[in-house]
Amino acid sequence: MQRLDKLIADKLNITRSAAKQLIKSGEVFVNASPAKSPDYKCTDNDRITVSGREISSNKFVYIMMNKPKGVICASEGEKEKTVVDILPKDMKIKNLFPAGRLDKDTTGFVLITNDGEFAHDILSPKKHVPKTYLALLDKPLDKSVIMDFEGGMMLGEEKLLPATLSAENEEKTLARVVIRQGIYHQIKRMFKKHKIEVLELKRIKIGALPLDESLGEGECRYITSPELLSLGTVPNDRAV
Ligand code: URA
Repeated sequence: MQRLDKLIADKLNITRSAAKQLIKSGEVFVNASPAKSPDYKCTDNDRITVSGREISSNKFVYIMMNKPKGVICASEGEKEKTVVDILPKDMKIKNLFPAGRLDKDTTGFVLITNDGEFAHDILSPKKHVPKTYLALLDKPLDKSVIMDFEGGMMLGEEKLLPATLSAENEEKTLARVVIRQGIYHQIKRMFKKHKIEVLELKRIKIGALPLDESLGEGECRYITSPELLSLGTVPNDRAV
């Protein structure tokens, strides 16, 4: 249970007095009725809207972002611009962080949350949640590269989990790669072993959940409950 004015202030990243003002001006509805009091105690089942837009009263949020190039996967307060810095103001609440890291020049699906347990689940190599990427290569891949990826390659001293690799175009310079762990620069290093350079890299799917194609680079949206459950790692009571 949380006071309505505090919930709105946290969700919208505004002051408590600004939240009280919104309630007073009739912009806030609880379960389709105008909110009367800032000290109303919200439960997880209450549907709260501000200016017609739903804000969840749940503790945890899960955001899908189409990460642009030039932004790092970290929380706020870094020297460089982070994925949390570029969230729209009304989505920025405390303690958000990206569940997993894409390189600064990699684009695509980043999941941003404040749920540490969930992030651990989707990142743990033990859970084997597959991550799917499209990679643009400087030369064509051949059968020997595919076999090395799929056999669980040796990368330096480390034996990797089997990955999936297939060509997406006739020239065999656009590849679809599925990996189940997240080692530093993993895909670039896997191709480099075969003297192939990755020119562009985009993550297009986490588990069974594809990146929403309607999101432009830098755009994001909340992940819905059925989508979260499709990741197979979130108990019902933690869904948005
Ligand atoms: N592998 C890489 O090399 N870079 C990424 O950003 C993700 C996977």
